Amino acid sequence: MGGRESPKLELHCHLEGTIAPERASKMAARRGVDLSSMITPDGHYIWTDFSSFLALYDQVSDLISSPQDYYDLTLDHLVRAAEQGVVYTEFFISADHARRIGLDYGDMVAAIDEAARHAEERTGHVCRLISTCIRHFGPEAARDVARETVRHAHPRVTGFGMGGDERQYHPSDFVPAFETAYDAGLGCTVHAGEFGGPESVCAALDHLPVKRIGHGVRAVEDPDLLHRIRDEDVVLELCPGSNISLGLYPSLSHHPLPALLAAGVRVTVSSDDPPFFHTDMALEYASLSGVFGLSPGQVKTLGEVAIEAAFLEDAAKENLRQLYAD
Ligand code: HPA
Ligand code: ZN
Repeated sequence: MGGRESPKLELHCHLEGTIAPERASKMAARRGVDLSSMITPDGHYIWTDFSSFLALYDQVSDLISSPQDYYDLTLDHLVRAAEQGVVYTEFFISADHARRIGLDYGDMVAAIDEAARHAEERTGHVCRLISTCIRHFGPEAARDVARETVRHAHPRVTGFGMGGDERQYHPSDFVPAFETAYDAGLGCTVHAGEFGGPESVCAALDHLPVKRIGHGVRAVEDPDLLHRIRDEDVVLELCPGSNISLGLYPSLSHHPLPALLAAGVRVTVSSDDPPFFHTDMALEYASLSGVFGLSPGQVKTLGEVAIEAAFLEDAAKENLRQLYAD
């Protein structure tokens, strides 16, 4: 890139997915949980495909046991990312996982909020939260998450999303959850077009009040859908390292990011679940620049698109824009 590095913004990062194997081991020891099926003796997560990744992700998330754990996860990630030039992060947070381990949603948000405040004071790194339901936990659990998010509205929580296994259920099953969140003023995003094809993205856009799609890469297989995404100003939260790690594409050179840009689709770049996929924001940008030779102008555009698409109030967006002004 040369010269001063562009600031980086991350719109797609699962807080529970920032738990590194070393931290998971400590948490497991505290709770007397046997990790031998989850982590190799030399400290790597064990998973082989999307289903086993999701199962492991749920198990690792269940190792969190206190608001202090959420505080530590949040602060550590935000401070480390700031060192890599990340100025804005939206974390997906999972009320389902908190509930599964007996933690109150409000206590979880309060702990994350405090850590985000401390991180911003120390580094300037701004953070917002997307309360996220898990598709394979079903529509009722999703509606409960949306209701809880709205009942305990918090200024740090500016979005509502859905991750999990997009091969299960249909977006229309989640209309009540998304409408509850949307009507309360939350920005909405949904994972689609990762392990489902372009029809999964179409269905999400048809039924849910979303202006962003998590991943969405498989939209590239349908030219009509690409036109629709461009014309409806939908933004794709790309996570190239995650896609390669999960085997969607054999290597980064096969990733559709250049094709999406060429089709005029607006995209952003994120790390998804960094230690699970052996990535972080610095590596994402370094790999993209290395493989695709992204120009400084293209890198700047990725940041500008992220600012526009962020679930963030206008005044704070303006502050982020200033970081690009020379
Ligand atoms: N896809 C779907 N759900 C997820 C992911 C993902 O990549 N990461 C965490 N939850
Ligand atoms: Zn994700």
